[in-house]
Amino acid sequence: MSSLAVVGAQWGDEGKGKLVDYLTSQADFVVRFQGGNNAGHTLVVDGVTTKLSLVPSGILHEATCCLLGAGVVVNPEVFIQEVNGLKKAGVRVDPSRLVIDRDAHLILDYHIEIDKAREEMRGKDKIGTTGRGIGPCYEDRAQRVGVRFAELRLLSELKPRLQKLVEHKNRYLVDLLGAESPVDFDSLWSKLENISEILSPYIGDVSHLLNRARLQEKKIVFEGAQGTLLDQTFGTVPFVTSSNTISGAITTGCGVGPKTVDYVLGVAKAYCTRVGSGPFPTELEGETSDYLREKGSEFGTVTNRPRRCGWFDAVAMKRAVGLNGLDSLVITKLDVLSGLEDLKVCIKYKIDGKEIEEYPSLSSELEKVEPEYITLDGWSEDITSVRKWHELPPAARLYISTLSEILGIPVSIVSVGAERESTLFSRSAKFVKNFMMSV
Ligand code: GDP
Ligand code: IMO
Ligand code: MG
Repeated sequence: MSSLAVVGAQWGDEGKGKLVDYLTSQADFVVRFQGGNNAGHTLVVDGVTTKLSLVPSGILHEATCCLLGAGVVVNPEVFIQEVNGLKKAGVRVDPSRLVIDRDAHLILDYHIEIDKAREEMRGKDKIGTTGRGIGPCYEDRAQRVGVRFAELRLLSELKPRLQKLVEHKNRYLVDLLGAESPVDFDSLWSKLENISEILSPYIGDVSHLLNRARLQEKKIVFEGAQGTLLDQTFGTVPFVTSSNTISGAITTGCGVGPKTVDYVLGVAKAYCTRVGSGPFPTELEGETSDYLREKGSEFGTVTNRPRRCGWFDAVAMKRAVGLNGLDSLVITKLDVLSGLEDLKVCIKYKIDGKEIEEYPSLSSELEKVEPEYITLDGWSEDITSVRKWHELPPAARLYISTLSEILGIPVSIVSVGAERESTLFSRSAKFVKNFMMSV
């Protein structure tokens, strides 16, 4: 009996995809529980890069079944494109190993148009969304007007309902948001008819599959998207995504009980990045920031925007430990820090020179914090070919053990390159190592 959750502990792009691919070699199931194609997950195996946004990152392991829980919002066209791309690359993808929950919601054209039009209207106050229609789709779910995959099985019922919904959305889009052209119902409908034919075999009951798997003592990996600081409730509101990204979202996003998750792994970069707007206390400008961006290829997978870069923020990370109930941390991109003389870690936030005890809730407050840093020695060695803990330079080991000490949880895994194999375990990786052993 074993299940493992992998969640982002910062602002996304921590390397969750790489980790999930690495960890699922012996897993029976890997399941996404929230988000949509705002996510961009990159796997590199034997020099071949695979980019995924909807299909779970365990897809390259032939024996692993990939599930999209009811909490995921799915753009069906993007899903079909991704499946076709994988098939073209020689990956076996069919409904026996890829299932979308019948209660997951579809992202449709008007969600994307609304997302874009709203951002345009916000001007300099924009959130910097990925423009993929994520927020508007989750809003429809909360408003009880969204379209679910189950409805693709009964198109005659869906058609009149959707026709009215599109009329309503068009009024909002054109009259209130000033969009130039409304969404054309007929072309949307003919696309949906086609989509329904292609995707019907992929629709299933993920909650049932997972609860049965649990009884059969199967191994399950829950794959988070985005990151803790982008959580709709606990993140840097309003500069967040529209789903709960923390581990608690697994229950509502998959239809499983809270005891289903045995172990929670948080993934964090050895420094910090963020795409889009919003507060970022440890953000750097200038030489060091450019160094991290260039060396770490910090450009968004989804939108290709340059990522903002900064030092590791242990204050925010402590919050992530509690919000997710993290059992241990994975530190990725340690190789990117090679060559920097000094490394800083933020250990306190101050406002007007006074330390603040409570993590700020308002973004305007977070914008004001002055980070207080400790400085650690860097190392100059290239560590991308290191595969054993003791082969890391002493300064790199000290950097990791200092993070662990400040945060009060172990670092179980360190990643030193984008390749699947560029991954090393610490002494604290017992659970993870057992999880990866074949039975
Ligand atoms: P995700 O959204 O959390 O899955 O992360 P992304 O895939 O969007 O971004 C992480 C990027 O860093 C990808 O390009 C990965 O290939 C790459 N990557 C992951 N781990 C490492 C690492 O340890 N070192 C380096 N240099 N790159 C890494
Ligand atoms: P992965 O899974 C990094 C950010 C966007 C924007 C905010 C809201 O690859 O880590 P949205 O389109 O979700 O309404 O945008 O959230 N964002 C991400 N940033 N990684 C992601 O996913 C992200 N998904 C959304 O840049 O600031
Ligand atoms: Mg990403």
